[in-house]
This record gives sequence, structure tokens and C-alpha cells, in this order.
Amino acid sequence: MKSKQQYIKLYISAFLLFSIHINAQKSNDSIEKKIDSILSQLTLKEKVDLCHAQSKFSTKGVSRLGIPEIWMADGPHGVRAEISWDSWNHAGWTNDSITAFPALTCLASTFSPDLARQYGFSLGEEARYREKDVLLGPGVNIYRTPLNGRNFEYMGEDPYLASVMAVPYIKGVQENGVAACVKHYALNNQEHWRSLINVELSDRALHEIYLPAFRASVQEAGVWSIMGAYNKVRGQYATHNELLNNKILKDDWNFDGVVISDWSAAHSTMESALYGLDIEMGTGTDGLGLNKENHYDYYYLANPFLEKLKKGEIPESIVNDKARRILRLMFRTNMNSSRPLGRVNNQEHIEVAYKVATEGIVLLKNEEQFFPIQDNRSLTIAVIGENATRSMTAGGGSSELKPKFEISPLDGIKKRFKNAAILHTMGYESGPSEYSRVVPGKLNADSLKIKAIDVAQKADIVLFIGGLNKSNSQDCEGDDRKEFGLPFNQDILINDIYEVNKNLGIILVSGNAIDMPWLSKTKGLMQCWYLGSVAGNAIADVITGEVNPSGKLPFTFPKHLKDNSAHYFGEMSYPGDGVNQYYKDDILVGYRWHETKKIESLFAFGYGGSYTNFELSNIGINKKSYQRDEVIEISCDVKNVGKIEGAEVVQVYIGKPNSKIERAKKELKGFTKVFLQKGKTKTVKISIDISKLKYYDTELSAWNFESGKYDIYVGNASNNISKKKIVNIK
Ligand code: BGC
Repeated sequence: MKSKQQYIKLYISAFLLFSIHINAQKSNDSIEKKIDSILSQLTLKEKVDLCHAQSKFSTKGVSRLGIPEIWMADGPHGVRAEISWDSWNHAGWTNDSITAFPALTCLASTFSPDLARQYGFSLGEEARYREKDVLLGPGVNIYRTPLNGRNFEYMGEDPYLASVMAVPYIKGVQENGVAACVKHYALNNQEHWRSLINVELSDRALHEIYLPAFRASVQEAGVWSIMGAYNKVRGQYATHNELLNNKILKDDWNFDGVVISDWSAAHSTMESALYGLDIEMGTGTDGLGLNKENHYDYYYLANPFLEKLKKGEIPESIVNDKARRILRLMFRTNMNSSRPLGRVNNQEHIEVAYKVATEGIVLLKNEEQFFPIQDNRSLTIAVIGENATRSMTAGGGSSELKPKFEISPLDGIKKRFKNAAILHTMGYESGPSEYSRVVPGKLNADSLKIKAIDVAQKADIVLFIGGLNKSNSQDCEGDDRKEFGLPFNQDILINDIYEVNKNLGIILVSGNAIDMPWLSKTKGLMQCWYLGSVAGNAIADVITGEVNPSGKLPFTFPKHLKDNSAHYFGEMSYPGDGVNQYYKDDILVGYRWHETKKIESLFAFGYGGSYTNFELSNIGINKKSYQRDEVIEISCDVKNVGKIEGAEVVQVYIGKPNSKIERAKKELKGFTKVFLQKGKTKTVKISIDISKLKYYDTELSAWNFESGKYDIYVGNASNNISKKKIVNIK
């Protein structure tokens, strides 16, 4: 029973919500009226001019009416340095350095929507300060194969996790009057052949796996722009795709924002005009450089579009709709006089970057309590591996950054270990960070190795800091990795180091799963992602135990590449034949596949260790039987049974046994992260709206619910379930 006061409180908050809604509605109406008035003053040419680039990262305004240009910047981990007007070269400004935030895989590993909001807000402030109107991020493509060169920019293999993390990120960015631009819509799940490959997949895989994070971005976060992907989907380029843009995005989801092409992803005037593209970017931009004519005028949505409008081959309502959306974007950003000023490189942003970095690091193995490592005068630590000193904000493609500073792992370790002796050597060399080609290093590989063995022999502990990097064929845009194993002969080097020093810990700096033939030889293993400006501090603080790790994997590490479902189905499933590919893995992506087919993983989705231990107990549900419009309330006691404070992520997976359709054994439907002092217990509650358990019914072409028994699994990893409960839903 609720008290009278509770009822009054409920009434007041309902009233406040209602008045906020009414006021928002009034301000929307008045903006739409202003847009009507502007549209009536624009010439056809001026409307068309709004629809395409005028430089690498900007579009024209209407100077005679005081309508500003739109300025965009990458995204998604920090605001990219200024790029030249007509080329990909850096513009060479000296006032464009920023805070580099950790890569989105790391953000996803925190399993903390609160940190995602802080991340988005801080990034939005930096974009605002840099006078950007559109920030090209977040990336929410689903992690389908460990070879995808761009996985590090995305939020893992689970559509629910990616949605829950993307929504607060977007809201945080947009609070600054800067539009987020969620990308790459859709099915850009590999970089290999990204500009040509045609993706064929079932409706269920499309709606249940690959679209939910985009849908949440639109419907829950209210994202103001979205970027069309390079690839084709069912025979049509994604950037101007009738199904994706017109039917799903704009009709079904009521998206009222702007579709921006990926750079050079538009291929036709007619399709761009008719199939939902609003702003064309990046199509052949040597305009003011090599030609007298301004090339931007020859974009598909420039002069050729104008011609077709004039001839009546395309109705004017089409350009009016695009111009209306673009003006709406402006009223939300550069024509919103009350947007805040933003700030950059301030202490608060650095702290957010540090929090995300430390909470995202995942402890994968810790035999004999290898970590944390206590600092003391009699200790000698050998730090071996190129990633101990290599910049991971340079390279990688469009997500490259120019941070004001970047603390390397070696710097961080040297700073934190004030007493121990730190020896360092590279061990291997990968060559310079190159986006489009592999450039071999110049140092002698044998000498590097001999030195590494020598250093390893002299030390009490070896920390091997390796992994992938941001060069071509690694974690880099433009192509995929060529091998599942570690590159640059690191596997051999690790084995050789082990032969001389068994006290070996490995720090992996990467955005992808890798093969680990040496796993049994390492006592400690940490997945450290690309951590941005404060990478070294974060890594060192987790190594020393200053921070207790609490990150959880946002994707599965398979034992063998073939165990991953995209690869299991052979070449036509990944990477395709250069023309088509078929997502034969269907809805069984990542842990859904491993759990359903009982294929053990090396490290499971949701897994991550700690320097303390937790026990989950008293797992309960509020009822045994539900109607389909109800909410399932799950409660669970979490106890920190170890000796130090730490955090655990309680995860709820749901499955439908004996379903009439094919289903994954379990799917993540809720989670919560809980911080606990040593010895303390907390009861956590997780609510799951039953409407979230619907499947996409291909006969109805709509979401549908199947009544019957459901399994509810509560645990701390997809493969580590403390309790299964069964409920009945009518
Ligand atoms: C990438 C986008 C990026 C754009 C602008 C493209 O190559 O795919 O993610 O936002 O370039 O740099």
C-alpha cells in the first residue's frame, strides 16, 4: 500500500512530466513553423545545396539568410584533428588537440550506462568547444567476426548491451547541442570489401541482432543523425536503401533526423534522392585542389539532383523533406542559441577517460595471484613488447586522434612502481602506423629477440605488453585482420620468454579476440583495449591493485576461429565471394552460438575477473506466472567475500525452451553493476519488461510474443550461471 505522501509525489511527478511534454511539443511546433517559413524563402538550388558537402567535413549554409554551415567531425572516441578542406591531410592547426577517450569496446566492457553518459557528455563538450555540430559516433555495428578491423570502434556482440550503452552516450553528446551520428547503418560488420559486399540475411537476424542498437538510438535516445554504411544490403547500397531508410528508419521508427552518407558511400542520384539519403559526404573531394570547377557541385545530390528536380523527374517534396530534416538538425545544434559553450582537455574529462579505462580493463586469468603486483625495492620487472610504448591514438582510420598527451603503458608503470627496477625492451617491431598498407619495420628482428630474452632472464617478473595495433590489417579501418593469431611473431617470442622466465604476465592491447596458443604459459592475462590519453595510468593502476578490475567481455573469445559462427559456415558466410555474402549464422551470433551449440569458448561473453570474489545468492523472482504486459522483477544478493572492495556485474539471460521457432539458448536481457566493500552484501534488483522478450515474426513482418515457459538465468557471465528459474508467461 502506498502512503498519501507517496501518492502526492507520484501525482506531482506525473504532472511535471506532462508539462515538460507539453512545453517540448510547443517548442517543436514553433520550430516546425520556423522551418516552414525558411523553406518558403529558399530557392530550389539553395535547398539542394543543403544536401551535400562543400568540403571534407562541412556543408553549405545559406549565407544571404544567415543560415550557418554544418561542421562535422569524427568520432567516436574523441574529436578528430582538423582535416583539410579538400583532402584527407591534417589541416595542421595547433589548437585542435583533445582528450582521447577509451575505444568503445572498452566502454562496453564497463557494463556501466552511467559511465556511457559521462563519456558522451564529456565528448559532446569537447565537440562543442571545437565548434562541431555533428559528432560522427557512436558505432554500434555488431561484433560478428574477430577479424573485423573495426570492432574496436563498436560495442560488442550483443544487441542489448550495445543498445543500453549507446543510448546514454548519445543523450550525453546531444545535451551539448551537438548531434550524435550513430553509425554505420547497417550491416557494415566487416571492413574487407566494405564498399562492394552485398549482405543477405534473414529478417530475424536483421531485426533481432543487427538493428536493435540503431533502433534504440532512434527511439530511446532520439538521435539527430545516422550514417549510412558503405556495403549493400539485399542488393541496394545501404546509404540509399529503400528498406533500411524509407521503410524501417523513417516510417517504422519515425526517425525525424538526418541520414548522412558514409564518406563516398553514395552511388546514384535517383536512389539517393528517393531512398532516404539527406546529406551526401565524401564523394570525390579534390574539388578546389585539382580542378577549376568545384567538384562538390557534381555530387549525386548536387547539380544532377537539381537537374532532375527541374525536369520534374524527382518531385520537389523530396528535396523539401531533406531540407526540412537538415534545418531541424540546425535548430537542434548550430541554430540553437541556448546551447552551452563546451570545454576541452579539462580535468573532469580526463577523469572520465580514466574511469572508463580502469573499469573497462578485463582480468582474464590470474593464477597464483600474479596480479596485483606489489611495488618493492627488491623487485625487477621486465616490460617487453612494442605496445608498451606505441601510440594507439595514431592510426586505425577515421577514429585516429590527436590527444594533448598520451601516457604509454611503460610511462604509467614507471610512474606507479617507484621502488622496483623496471627494465624495458621492444621485443618485436611492427613498422609505422599506416592506414592503407603494411610497412615493415627497419630493426633487426633477431637482435630484438635476443635482447628481450636477455632482459627477461634478469627480471623477477615479465610483463609482456603486446597485442594488435592500429596499422593496416590490424585493428584498422579499410580492411580486416588476415590472421586470428598475434602478428609480428609475438607467439614465438612469448614462448621463448617463457623458457627463461616462468613468472610471466601478458597485457593485451587490442580491440579484438585473438588466438592464444601460449595461454597455459602465462600466469596473468589482462585485456586492456585502446585506452586513450590516460592508457598507461589506467593499466598501471590495475596492475598494482590501486584499482580492482571489474570489466566484463563484450564479446566471446573463441578457442579456434572456426568456432565462431560467422566462420563456421565457410567463405560465403565470411567474407563472401567479393560480391555477395550470406549471414548463415543467422541469429546465432557470438555467445548465442556457443551456448546453443555447446561449443566451449576460451573466454565467454560477460566474463571478467576481480582481485576479490563475489557470491550470488537468494536469487528470486517476484512471481512464477506473468501476463505479457508485465515486468519480471529479479532480485539477487551479491556478497563480496574477498579481502578488498570491488565490483561485480549481475547478468540476466532469458531463453525459451521448446520454442516453435529457432532460438538462442539464452539472451542477455538485463544487468546491473554493483560496488561492494569487503565483506558487504547488497540486494540488487533487475526488472525485465516482458515486451522485450518478443521475437521478429517473419510471417507477420512484425514483433510477436510466444507464450509458455521461459528460463531465467542469473549469473556473472554467459557461461557462468548461478541459478536458473522457470516462469510461465501467458
Ligand atoms: C568512415 C566513417 C567516418 C568517415 C569520415 C569513413 O571512412 O567509415 O566512420 O566517419 O570516414 O571520416
